[in-house]
Amino acid sequence: VRLPGRLRGFTCDTTGGFGMSSLKEIWNACKRIESIAIRTPIIEDPSGSGLRIKAEHLQRTGSFKVRGAANRVVIAVEQGAKHVITASSGNHGKAVAFIAQRLGIKATIIVPEDARAIKVLGMTSCGATVERCGTTSDARLARALDLSHQLGATFVPPYDDQFVIAGQGTAGLELLEQAPDVEVVYIPVGGGGLLSGMALAIKQTCPWVKVVGVEPELGNDTYLSYQKGEIVAVAGGAPSIADGLRAVQPGSMTFPIMRRHVDEIMLVSEAEIEAATRWMLTTMKQVVEPSGAVSVAAARRAGPARAVALVSGGNLEV
Ligand SMILES: Cc1ncc(COP(=O)(O)O)c(C=O)c1O
Repeated sequence: VRLPGRLRGFTCDTTGGFGMSSLKEIWNACKRIESIAIRTPIIEDPSGSGLRIKAEHLQRTGSFKVRGAANRVVIAVEQGAKHVITASSGNHGKAVAFIAQRLGIKATIIVPEDARAIKVLGMTSCGATVERCGTTSDARLARALDLSHQLGATFVPPYDDQFVIAGQGTAGLELLEQAPDVEVVYIPVGGGGLLSGMALAIKQTCPWVKVVGVEPELGNDTYLSYQKGEIVAVAGGAPSIADGLRAVQPGSMTFPIMRRHVDEIMLVSEAEIEAATRWMLTTMKQVVEPSGAVSVAAARRAGPARAVALVSGGNLEV
């Protein structure tokens, strides 16, 4: 990542959310994943609204997840891992399966009973073993941890891990470089790995840029936790069409980072998510999944002034 001229040599507070220097971890991640993740483009609304998107739906495996997963799995392999296990509603699992195949190790992915077929196919076509377990993120995380202990495999957390967070943060550095005039960035939030990583990267490099997390009204755990100042779990109720954003609570590692570095969490309705997904198709000519379009829904409601919406995934079931 090459920062634009006015940011070069910018010194900042690097004592962010984890370890000695989270910004340094993100820079290290940029180097570690450069041959695996691609630099996705920024695309401007051709109808002239001024809204720009950071197109992570065009990332390898169809989502940003490959950034954090690659950073974590490359480190695991350097430490001797031969088998990785994870729990995922789809995109993180697909990313782990893809990287494991590239690095020549085994992958086992625990998915929910109702996982989207396109995402399961993405995992099995990379040679991963897929096991279904329950419908909540807590149930599949518990099973993945159990199995890792039983088999002596390495567990790859979907979001609550400093190397996964640092990997997701690489999208933030890239965005600043590609859109140096940006004033506000909208980012989807599930367990919070993407939002916390990008917020760390953005706030420690350009603290004047506003960082907004976006959640579905039907999965408002981060919104409620942010309001209350402590982790709140939500369970039950109708599931959102944004299947990647159904975590029942923010992570214990991601939440303090989000509290410190995120300016606002916005909620969007199911109707707004559907409309944004359709708008991406008809106006932007881009195939995106509902989880990836929540940021677009928020940006369209708020107005486009120097805004970039991070579109996080394109694995749409059609
Ligand atoms: C497309 C998409 N966007 C966003 C997210 C949320 O990511 P995180 O759990 O890091 O908040 C996910 C998680 O699976 C996803 O698949």
